[in-house]
Amino acid sequence: MPYQVPRGMRDILPEEVGRWQALEVRIREMAERYGFREIRTPVVEHTELFLRTVGEGTDIVEKEMYTFPDRGGRSLTLRPEGTAPVIRAYLEHGGASWPQPVKLYYIAPMFRYDRPQYGRYRQHVQFGAEIIGAPSPEADAEVFSLPIRLMQDLGLKEVEVHLNSVGDATCRPAYIDALRAYFSRHLDALCADCRRRHQTNPLRILECREEGCHEIVRGAPSIMEYLDPACREHLEGVKTHFTALGIPYLIDPFIVRGLDYYTRTAVEVYSGKLGAQNAMFGGGRYDGLAEQLDGPPTSGVGFGFGLDRLLLALEQEGLPIPSAAPAAAVYVIAAGAAARGEALRLTDTLRQAGIAADADLLDRAVRAQMRHADKLGARVTLIMGDKELAAAEVTLREMASGTERRVKQAEIVEAVRRALETAKRSAGA
Ligand code: HAM
Repeated sequence: MPYQVPRGMRDILPEEVGRWQALEVRIREMAERYGFREIRTPVVEHTELFLRTVGEGTDIVEKEMYTFPDRGGRSLTLRPEGTAPVIRAYLEHGGASWPQPVKLYYIAPMFRYDRPQYGRYRQHVQFGAEIIGAPSPEADAEVFSLPIRLMQDLGLKEVEVHLNSVGDATCRPAYIDALRAYFSRHLDALCADCRRRHQTNPLRILECREEGCHEIVRGAPSIMEYLDPACREHLEGVKTHFTALGIPYLIDPFIVRGLDYYTRTAVEVYSGKLGAQNAMFGGGRYDGLAEQLDGPPTSGVGFGFGLDRLLLALEQEGLPIPSAAPAAAVYVIAAGAAARGEALRLTDTLRQAGIAADADLLDRAVRAQMRHADKLGARVTLIMGDKELAAAEVTLREMASGTERRVKQAEIVEAVRRALETAKRSAGA
């Protein structure tokens, strides 16, 4: 094979695109119903944006970013996540003067140079939503209820919601000291990465997946002992609202999230069906992020949902996503050179009338055109030969029943519409 797709990236072929489209339509409809409006930011940002917010000691910044100089010598990075760009855009366009709170969502590709495996890609798509300017726990509950209801709507059963608080700048330092002291007693049992993290950012050890480290983490101090009253109260508020909304959750004090900008609420939702890469969505509160970008104090809370993983989980749980309609509802068959031009005109008329139609472009024999119509899943074929041409008519064939009749060309749009309706009714019956 002379050329292949870059490692960890994928082509989404037409058979699979229908599932993506159906999912995206559903997500957009739902996000708008919850009062979120779409934002689209560029696929690249200044590298500095992610260094400042995601954090220099994180895996994303240390090992996973696609960073390159542009022709003017500026350092740019393919977006590894969506929150920092959204806050950058909010600050840049004076979001503080928009009606508050500001509720934004995106469906966008993200890039991380990670080791590819099942459910982990170097380009993945996230559906994310952010509520900016609402500090109360109601905002946390509202933003997380959206992906949770989405999963319920899609019929997913094997999911677990893990909730934690990572504290804030007031109470977290004492917890980090306690972690450092604890891990210093177990340095020999930690992996090389975690021995380094012990110095740079011991919180990161909590999310290490190495078996040896995992074992040590189990005995580590819990952040629950270190939360100050305001953070504790916030967490209690989120729990109360989750319960009121009927959202089952587990308190998991070892969720820290892989990005540095979080304060207070941290949420991870796992699927029981995905193996090692089982995080479906993750998010939390990031009240200090805007200030890290030299903006005014601005609260924010949101999530990012990996759609590649959502589609895998649906497949694993045997849940179909309705795919888009077959591309060609109607196939126009031409018999003979004279009919070919007419067939093209007829196809165009149908398309202009809003009907998906296709015709032969390869000069194939009638029988081969028939077979092709079948392969495309056409529900109606229109056959145009010399006889039809002379009478300004067309033969309309309903593919499911095989019934044929002649129709005046002037009445073709109406006749096709009725035939497609019949096909739809009998497919639904
Ligand atoms: P994150 O946890 O890094 O959070 O990513 C969110 C989700 O994206 C994960 O739960 C997972 O489903 C998916 N994901 C991440 N990396 C990959 C990958 N390599 N391949 C496939 N799927 C992946 C964030 O990015 C935050 N910006 C979320 C957020 C929004 N927090 C607040 N607002």
